[in-house]
Amino acid sequence: MSAQIIDGKQQAQILNQKTKEELQKIEKEHGFTPCLAVVLVGEDPASQVYVRNKVRTAGEIGIKSLEFVLPADTKQEDLEAKVKELSKDESVDGILVQLPLPKHLNQDAVIEKIDPLKDVDGLTEKSAGKLSLGKIGLRACTPSGSVILAKSALGDDLTGLNVVIIGRSILVGKPAALLFLEENCTVTIAHSKTKNLEEICKNADILVAAVGRPLMVKGDWVKKGACVIDVGINRVENNAVDAKSKTKLVGDVDFESAKEIAGQITPVPGGVGPMTIACLMQNTIIAAKLRRNLV
Ligand code: GUN
Repeated sequence: MSAQIIDGKQQAQILNQKTKEELQKIEKEHGFTPCLAVVLVGEDPASQVYVRNKVRTAGEIGIKSLEFVLPADTKQEDLEAKVKELSKDESVDGILVQLPLPKHLNQDAVIEKIDPLKDVDGLTEKSAGKLSLGKIGLRACTPSGSVILAKSALGDDLTGLNVVIIGRSILVGKPAALLFLEENCTVTIAHSKTKNLEEICKNADILVAAVGRPLMVKGDWVKKGACVIDVGINRVENNAVDAKSKTKLVGDVDFESAKEIAGQITPVPGGVGPMTIACLMQNTIIAAKLRRNLV
């Protein structure tokens, strides 16, 4: 039997509706509209699409957005100055610097210029520290979205489940591990140097693939009935005979083989992607409230 497909678009819609209601309440009770500033450096096509989707979703919910597109050869000091200016700007509630930055820029130094109270990506040292200490704060969007999707498939209580995360990035792997740990899961972080990766994956009740390698996780890496969360978004050549486009998006999981073994699985596109954006919108509202002591 084929796995249940976890509908990320539908889950994102549910969360976006809640965020919209929260926003309208803030406008009514506190008389301001939360505002998200998005900074994009350069012309990477994938990043352009992500930023466009974030700005569009903000508009649909009613969140104000400011978009800053800087040239690919932007200097470190100029980018840091822009982020500092947004950190000081009282009308800005959330700041997102789209990653990856062009190679000549020091990403960590830029991130640290984000006011932690406006860090809607949960990437600053302060946000990451709070997460590891289990304190309330702004949490990374893709990991939060992954937990919501797992719960939508398995129910709210994930206690005792074995979670294997492939990938140890600061944007996904590490924060995802801490979020699943908070749900009382037993968490393994696997990565490119992990021995017996396949065997370790086969032990997972929830398998989170976040390595950025197209179709790496095959069906025979998946335990029968497991929940598979595919975080990868990889653009590859489309060799299908009836292909309408030269490229297509695929995940880190070989969906066709994995869906025959898994109990539940997220598709790419339409899985984790929309949830990342929905969590970003929710974080913008949380940031707006945190900074004004409204929570
Ligand atoms: N690039 C890919 N995903 C993300 C994300 O969630 N946040 C940022 N800032 N950059 C990204």
